[in-house]
Amino acid sequence: MADVKPLTRLRDLPGPHGLPLIGHSYQLNNEQFHLTMERWAERYGPLFQIRLGLSRVAVVSDNEMIQHILEQRPQSFRRNHVIEDRFTEVGINGLFSAEGENWRQQRRTVVAALSRTRLANFFPKLKVTTARLQRRWEALADGGSSVDICNDLTRFTVDVTMQLAFGVDPNTLETPGPVIQQHLEKIGPGLQRRFFTLFPYWRWVRLPPDRALDRAVKVLEQEVEAIVHATRESMAAHPDHGPANFLEALLTMAEDNSSKLTSADLLAYTSQLLLAGEDTTSYTISWIIYYCIKFPEAFTRIRREVDGVIAPEAALSKLEQAHQFPFLDAFCNEVMRLKPVAPNMALETLEDTEILGCLIPKRTRLFVLLRHVATREEHFAGGDCFDPERWLSSPTGGNKQPHHPQAFVPFGAGPRICPGRNLAMLEIRAVLAMLCRNFDLEPVKPDTEVKEMMAVVMRPDQLHLRLKRRSVTSNVSPRASTAMAEREF
Ligand code: HEM
Repeated sequence: MADVKPLTRLRDLPGPHGLPLIGHSYQLNNEQFHLTMERWAERYGPLFQIRLGLSRVAVVSDNEMIQHILEQRPQSFRRNHVIEDRFTEVGINGLFSAEGENWRQQRRTVVAALSRTRLANFFPKLKVTTARLQRRWEALADGGSSVDICNDLTRFTVDVTMQLAFGVDPNTLETPGPVIQQHLEKIGPGLQRRFFTLFPYWRWVRLPPDRALDRAVKVLEQEVEAIVHATRESMAAHPDHGPANFLEALLTMAEDNSSKLTSADLLAYTSQLLLAGEDTTSYTISWIIYYCIKFPEAFTRIRREVDGVIAPEAALSKLEQAHQFPFLDAFCNEVMRLKPVAPNMALETLEDTEILGCLIPKRTRLFVLLRHVATREEHFAGGDCFDPERWLSSPTGGNKQPHHPQAFVPFGAGPRICPGRNLAMLEIRAVLAMLCRNFDLEPVKPDTEVKEMMAVVMRPDQLHLRLKRRSVTSNVSPRASTAMAEREF
């Protein structure tokens, strides 16, 4: 009879040396922990262990295994329980951090609220919001001021998400002075600090970052409470209208006693949807703009493509135009492969599980390294190089550079895949098309490599640039530019 190889134990897996009692927490409790994990994966392979305090954590960077893990949610794996605990503690346990029946119930409502039909109806409002961003950037260009790209784009994404999901228009893009984003931006870093902190000291002592987090959550709660109140009143005034957005769907559910939805749940679900949609999309667009500066020839090529579709000094005017940019889409994919806002995911086993020949006990925490997989040579040829061409089809069919599509999951995969991905891609195309058609880009510090910083999501640190109104000579009409594009490519 053939020998059956016994399963390795988690404690016997390779891994970096940690300190007694605290393990590796001190190496990970910072804004660049994702880079440390990727370095370790390079050294210790597709499955290794680290310790957070006394708990052993498995770190996985095997593509097929990651696919399996993501697909087998919610029955065999969940998000790391620390995520749910920390969000619950600040009163924002929405769809991203929820588990079990709570997750199932929210998921249906969120998916319906972000469906393609809802997006198509929403397009006119997206156009108006993009035009506001254009006016804001024109004013900065005319004044010669630098643009804090992440900040401006977060204004844009908050305005978009609030209009689509809650039916209100905060117009933060045109609001001078403090806006809600200044508080929202404290929430990610505040929570990130707590993910790796072994002892929950904040339950007894509030340090300055905890007080900043408290203040930010309070402002968010007040904003959302006011919106919920106004929406309740408007629904009462129009009882015959069906729910038109996410918030109205929740309020309709809350009326139904069988749903057991409390006011606190309403606030939590609504606040977290806003958080899930803002930073992710604004930082993704910021990374894309950074790559437009780093690769000016590719930027010129995107421009030619955009010039062939939309009029000078304009932006997307019809939804169909958003799907006429194959090179822009390839460029965005390539940026999201190298600079995904979620380079890893923190999960947990719900049952004893075998992973790559190792027995991983129930309730073990896991990190899956999504970016590491997407940059491996075996999945993407020249994996570290920026090459948008790899996403384009060759004349004979297939991609010019063979790649493993499943190794690229910027929006996650399986039953918990990002429900906002279509909205996000529409926002990305709308902003990029407007930017290309109207502005020239100039970095403020040309030779400085922009650093990656993790605060729940990965953002570019200190990305400032100057915009100039696009020179008239390069701003050709759609018809002329199509002819040029055909000649040159
Ligand atoms: C480029 C922008 C975005 C990126 C890269 C992104 C990425 C992700 C990722 C990686 C996940 C985890 C998926 C998984 O566990 O498999 C996720 C979940 C989620 N995203 Fe996004 N996202 C983006 C935009 C948005 C937008 C615009 C919204 C809504 C307005 C949104 C709402 C959510 C929600 C609610 C979840 C939790 C889903 C669940 O656990 O069932 N995201 N997103």
